[in-house]
Amino acid sequence: MSIKDRLDKNNIPKHVAIIMDGNGRWAKEKGEMRLFGHATGVEAVREALTAASEIKVDYLTLYAFSTENWNRPKEEVDGLMDLLVTTIANEIESLNNNDVRLLTIGNTHELPPKCKKELMNAMERTKENKGTTLVLALNYSSKYEIKTAIKTIAEKYKNGEIELTDVTDQLVDEHLFTAGIPDPELMIRTSGEIRISNFLLWQIAYSELHFTPIFWPDFKKEDFYKAVYEYQTRERRFGKVSEQLNGTL
Ligand code: IPE
Ligand code: IPE
Ligand code: MG
Repeated sequence: MSIKDRLDKNNIPKHVAIIMDGNGRWAKEKGEMRLFGHATGVEAVREALTAASEIKVDYLTLYAFSTENWNRPKEEVDGLMDLLVTTIANEIESLNNNDVRLLTIGNTHELPPKCKKELMNAMERTKENKGTTLVLALNYSSKYEIKTAIKTIAEKYKNGEIELTDVTDQLVDEHLFTAGIPDPELMIRTSGEIRISNFLLWQIAYSELHFTPIFWPDFKKEDFYKAVYEYQTRERRFGKVSEQLNGTL
């Protein structure tokens, strides 16, 4: 029986987030340029998206470019932006064939005009799709997202639009890029790094974390299923004790 068949269909996470890491090291190991690693990483995106669609994960969020990534050598940043433009353009048909809707989170208005244009086009053309929603985190920073939410909420308080007691978890949720998207139950990071790198800090408060040494370009559907399988073995206690969850208390 394959790992996919062993999954509990009643316990599929609604939202899986992935920090796609290790493209550069993967390429280096092969004596190739870093950009070759990024280009090959696109295949891993297809693998993860197909796997997520097949087991009906509602949201798949992929960390594609952080605000900190602008600090990389210009050649790499330009290459990544070009790759984004060509990939989005090439994938629209496949997204539509697979009923995938595209969304973005992050400061996308700061992306190069060509990227923005392709993204807008792809989002428009996939907006009616009802399967998995692919959320691309582009020029994303969690600290920026939270800071912006604090500013907006403070402004509303100052203008008398809200009271202090209105500041609930839900209100904060509504002011994040991810407004309307449930928190990820599972976050995966590839490449062996055990850190979050400024990704979805508020939203992963109770996420299960899965770290794998696999470099992103080598990530396959099976690896996605494995992560979900492992997730299903975890006991999510949310502060309670085991006995409360299994009804023996
Ligand atoms: C992840 O791979 C892709 C992006 C951050 C855009 P990296 O490019 O970070 O690869 P490593 O971590 O240097 O191997
Ligand atoms: C995180 O990877 C960002 C993305 C995957 C887009 P990085 O490679 O930029 O993270 P750090 O700098 O090693 O933490
Ligand atoms: Mg990296």
